[in-house]
Amino acid sequence: MFYDRIKAVMAGKDGLGKAAVVTLHSAFCTRGTQCSRTVELCNAHHGHRSSELAFVKAKGVEHGDEHIFDRDLVVCLVVDAILCIDLNLNAPFITFVASYIAPAIAPSASFTHLVLSKHNSFSSDPTLIPDFAPAWAAAYSKAKQHLADYTLEEKVNITTGVGWGNGLCVGNIPANKNFPGLCLEDSPLAVRFADFVTAFPAGITTASTWNRALIRARGLALGSEHKGKGVNVALGPMMNMGRIAQGGRNWEGFGADPFLTGEAAYETILGMQNGGVQACAKHFINNEQEHMRTQDSANVDDRTQHEIYAHPFLRSVMAGVSSVMCSYNLINDTYACNNDKMINDILKREYGFQGYVMSDWQATMATLSAVAGLDMTMPGDITFDSGDSYFGGNLTAFVQNGTISQARVDDMATRIIAGWYYLHQESDYPEVSFNAFNTLDEATNKHVNVQSDHYKIVREIGAAGSVLLKNERGALPLNKPRNLILVGSDAGPGISGPNEFSDQGGSDRFLAMGWGSGTGLFPYLITPYEAIQERARQDGSSIFWDFDDWNTANAQTLVTGQSAAIVFINSDSGEDYITVDGNEGDRKNLTAWHNGDNLIQAVASNNNNTIVVVNSVGPLIIEPWIEHPNVTAVVWASIGGQEGGNAIADVLYGAYNPSGRLPYTIAKSPADYPAQLITGGSGSDILAINYTEGLFIDYRHFDAANIEPRFEFGFGLSYTTFEYSQVDISAISSSDHPQQSLIQAWENGDATPIAEGSSTALWLHEPAFKVTFHVKNTGSLSGTEIPQLYIHHPASAAEPPSVLKGFTNVKVSPGQTEHVSITLSRYDLSIWDVVAQGWRKPSGEITFSVGASSRDFKLNGTIPT
Ligand code: BGC
Repeated sequence: MFYDRIKAVMAGKDGLGKAAVVTLHSAFCTRGTQCSRTVELCNAHHGHRSSELAFVKAKGVEHGDEHIFDRDLVVCLVVDAILCIDLNLNAPFITFVASYIAPAIAPSASFTHLVLSKHNSFSSDPTLIPDFAPAWAAAYSKAKQHLADYTLEEKVNITTGVGWGNGLCVGNIPANKNFPGLCLEDSPLAVRFADFVTAFPAGITTASTWNRALIRARGLALGSEHKGKGVNVALGPMMNMGRIAQGGRNWEGFGADPFLTGEAAYETILGMQNGGVQACAKHFINNEQEHMRTQDSANVDDRTQHEIYAHPFLRSVMAGVSSVMCSYNLINDTYACNNDKMINDILKREYGFQGYVMSDWQATMATLSAVAGLDMTMPGDITFDSGDSYFGGNLTAFVQNGTISQARVDDMATRIIAGWYYLHQESDYPEVSFNAFNTLDEATNKHVNVQSDHYKIVREIGAAGSVLLKNERGALPLNKPRNLILVGSDAGPGISGPNEFSDQGGSDRFLAMGWGSGTGLFPYLITPYEAIQERARQDGSSIFWDFDDWNTANAQTLVTGQSAAIVFINSDSGEDYITVDGNEGDRKNLTAWHNGDNLIQAVASNNNNTIVVVNSVGPLIIEPWIEHPNVTAVVWASIGGQEGGNAIADVLYGAYNPSGRLPYTIAKSPADYPAQLITGGSGSDILAINYTEGLFIDYRHFDAANIEPRFEFGFGLSYTTFEYSQVDISAISSSDHPQQSLIQAWENGDATPIAEGSSTALWLHEPAFKVTFHVKNTGSLSGTEIPQLYIHHPASAAEPPSVLKGFTNVKVSPGQTEHVSITLSRYDLSIWDVVAQGWRKPSGEITFSVGASSRDFKLNGTIPT
């Protein structure tokens, strides 16, 4: 993995030699203070480093200086720049890194290209706002040159997939002249249908970490695996919103809050594209349920669309995403891939999206969709294997008869080819080495192993994404228990292996992935049963198990006298083309599968230390047992990928002190959620799905309607405790800002102007306020707290009571206090003005809270005017 490369460079094993020194021809800092802070952090991170540190600390480095630095130091700075960590690296430094160091250690050339973009951000510090405009401009000019001698038919070919099953990948753009074509492949958590790849934790588990660096690292690993297999465009991340708790594909995404989803999408895309693959933000937009997904109209008002559902796509554009996939459903009675308002106006005009829009598979409904902004049709044919296409010959004919302009087709082809240049895929890109339609074909499957040591990221995210919901009488962490029993089928390995069900469309044992196109093949799957036995061997514990979910009487007998009984339950869902146990993609209810509720109650009736582990795709109603006095602990472990069992064991035994937080609300009753699955419909019906709850999804509704949830959004316990203090907020000066007049207008309450890129303008997204506070670890174990920042708008704004607008993760040692800061942009404080069609600061006082969940506020303040 990436770290190993870094280590190799630092150890001089990269062929360049340990003794090599680097001459900085351009300075890496313009201001001494900033630089010394960087170096200090780097030093703390990687251990003491000799004289040049002292030198930089003392003097800083001025632009134009020339110094000689130890390569270790520089590499250390690069590591921090890439992977983490609250560093404030500035433009010249990153330019330096990109041009001198990155080629030696970066996983792909695209790194250089990404960091060279104007505002230069390559850290998961959200205060650094990247600007990909120069990179897009360069890619466009290459694309235009490339296409200069293409005929109309050749350009149309670039926009039209070859048809279902006619290539090695789930989607294929044919080769043309010196363009080798494109391989488009699922999924958001693995290279689907390929062997020797990593099965990562799902999006929902990743979002539960609330940890930007981990989200970024997963994206990078995913991106490099896709590239390693020859995939040009990886079909993810998926970022629908979890509007309804039963939504079949919610687990592919990042939870039920637009800000959390947006940040997770942003980090994932930066990571993936840094790995060299083009990312695809999907599904645009409102594909919030599987039932009748190609025949339902999401009827959504403009403000809700902007503030909730479109926001993660805005963040995707800001992350420089190369492509977007339009969804199956209709929006306000127009199909998503034919929706001029959504594609041309919001995505391309308002967000200034420079990449291309592809259809979901068979979601193109007309040739004229090209005019609505669709750039590529997938997989190419109108229906699978139909042999015809809305694009292809039809598109050519529409241009020839004047219905569609030549300029539009030029733009479509340019956007697609630009995406390819933008990621530098024109040189040395690996050939496709797998066959999505015949995984066993030796002629096409070259079995390229791209896994590296990504299993470590899988395990860490699995643990960091596990949420501790209850922990009484010191039940956890386990401390060398004398004996333990694991109860429930979810603890053990699938009867016929980890890939027993096609596209994971089934559930008979440990659940580590949902089902559908958002899956991959497990290379192996560590279950709790294996991981916990491994621990038992070290601890000298005795382990027993009972995988029978239905014989509760027997379970009751077996748990008697055990130091702890750990009950494993699950709940699964997926995509509509597979039905599992009556669940047509969406879950038919919010109840644990496989008799889970009864099993827990039976076990708890006979063992007073019953610990519950939940592997679920989303919220469950846990009222039947959550308050049972013998249920001492609950670990909400989500779905963790190939290392899921190890991650659970890490949390149970305290090797990982839990820091995960719920990315959705767990209600007391299904009826408490603001929106429900719409069922019914048949034949050619178009189901109306009215988003009448508007902005009030998930916790926003519970807060507004004063409904007490079982566990609120953002909730999660630790094995230690934290105390918050000393909140402060300051405005970040903008007096010399080049966009001062726009800023002034915004401060006066004017909406942002209607213009290309108006919603992604840098001045709107740059940090405008800095909230600082202290977090102290008041317990006895080192742990990570996830401080969350919620905005409370004035009544005039008609917003929900609290909206998440910031979070971070802070590791604190026992007794220590960390100084934490979270910034807010003008965009974060704005609401969408449907009349003015712009972002506007509402009139009245805006306040904020910092706390440990959406309801556990520790500190409060007011945004300065
Ligand atoms: C899914 C997409 C997926 C595509 C290709 C569709 O059914 O909705 O998410 O990328 O298939 O497999």
